[in-house]
Amino acid sequence: FKVPAVANEPMRSYAPGSAERSALQAAIAQIEQELPFEVPCVVNGKPVKTGKLAKQPIPHDHAKHLCTYHEADEATVAAAIEGALAAKAEWSALPWNDRAAIFLKAADLVSGKYRYKLIAATMLGQGKNAWQAEIDAAAELSDFFRFGVKYVEELYAQQPPRNTPGSWNRVEYRALEGFVLAVSPFNFTAIGGNLAGAPALVGNTVVWKPSPMATYANYITYQILLEAGIPPGVIQFVPGPAEAVVGQAIASPHFAALHFTGSTFVFKKLWKDIAANLDKYRGYPRIVGETGGKNFHVIHPSAEIKNAVMQSIRGAFEYQGQKCSALSRLYVASSVWNAGFKDSLLQEVAKLKVGPPTEWTNFIGPVIGKPAFDKNASYIKKAKEAGGEILIGGSADDSVGYFVQPTVILTKDPKSVTMEEEIFGPVLTVYVYEDADYEKTLELIDTTSPYGLTGSIFSQDRKALLLATNKLRNAAGNVYYNEKCTGAVVGQQPFGGARASGTNDKAGSMSIFYRFVSARSIKENF
Ligand code: ALA
Repeated sequence: FKVPAVANEPMRSYAPGSAERSALQAAIAQIEQELPFEVPCVVNGKPVKTGKLAKQPIPHDHAKHLCTYHEADEATVAAAIEGALAAKAEWSALPWNDRAAIFLKAADLVSGKYRYKLIAATMLGQGKNAWQAEIDAAAELSDFFRFGVKYVEELYAQQPPRNTPGSWNRVEYRALEGFVLAVSPFNFTAIGGNLAGAPALVGNTVVWKPSPMATYANYITYQILLEAGIPPGVIQFVPGPAEAVVGQAIASPHFAALHFTGSTFVFKKLWKDIAANLDKYRGYPRIVGETGGKNFHVIHPSAEIKNAVMQSIRGAFEYQGQKCSALSRLYVASSVWNAGFKDSLLQEVAKLKVGPPTEWTNFIGPVIGKPAFDKNASYIKKAKEAGGEILIGGSADDSVGYFVQPTVILTKDPKSVTMEEEIFGPVLTVYVYEDADYEKTLELIDTTSPYGLTGSIFSQDRKALLLATNKLRNAAGNVYYNEKCTGAVVGQQPFGGARASGTNDKAGSMSIFYRFVSARSIKENF
């Protein structure tokens, strides 16, 4: 068995009048007609309706909600853990070809039969426009599965470098002892699939707690995995209140690993809780997390202005700035700022249309919910109070949905609150530096925020690019030259940050799979 050559899923353009646009439109209409859906927990492949109901809202329209889901209670989580442990022996002993085949089939179902349904669910439930949902729920999700299979094949093929006469060595990469807990975020449907799928691909069984704000799209992903042939019990689907579900799972003596994407605050708390439970476990749990960011663009005096402006707008405002990788602090050389960058930035931001993501002309959709809406408004207020000048935007309206206008703040204080803290919304703060202070500005970037996720350098001068790359060694796990700081592609830019942004395990690469296997060396003498 040889894994077929893998390639990134081609992105569709949804041009007006195209068949793909009509197909997606039909999928949206169908969901709109049938909602709200009922989503159960799924334990050992069987729906569990706990009767403890919660709603996944539609962030652009308070009048509707996408689904009502059953929250996992204590008995359900206990059954999910027990089921995951029971399913483990058979799943991990399954020939690798079979596990690979299931994930390759799931990838084809994502990019084929269920493509538009997944995209439509992501648009309605998570507030993405069609192109942002296409990148996520169609392309990245199927890429995670396909490339994952390729990477695991390579991992299993690795051998110790040599044998000696009369003896023979091998290394086995086995599943971890116990179960893996996957806790996934709202902002990428693909991340949910990867957090649950990657550990399962190497033979683990998984208890998956999806984000309440992504329940429906994650449930479709889960159903796809079942349709592709993943045995019931290998992944247990337990939406529910985070503290209770996650708390119960990490208190189990069989907890083997956490695969997490979410906030730095929650991740730190979970790390401490895991530490407090350490004596219960047979081993040291693997903790893999991708958390926040305060990502930067630095525009050198030699930068090409039009590209730097357009990339900055895309980095800051695509998906309303709700990517952990989103640009939120922009450092611009004063010569560039005054030579057209400022005017062009403001003209282009003024063109961004805000509204429901299901309308094709809207670039900016809603933020995910009330806490996010309030947080954006409060940071805009704090920035003003601290002397920041709102160059454009600054207003927000939650009468129909959670809409925040794309906002650009100019600050004279490079350490002001919106330069330091993560907002997770369409709020960009700009600091204009003197051209001669490029190197000093790099130091500022390095010392301003606790995060280290992504950053971009815009320059036509290789020396300036190299200087920044060296100075900012740990300020970003993903660095870009003359390109926005979002949009890492599976298999092309392994993704994951440093410092407070995560454990630096790279999603979309082979390295993530090492974290979910237990290696055993065996030497035999003849
Ligand atoms: N991996 C996503 C990006 O790079 C978050 O934008």
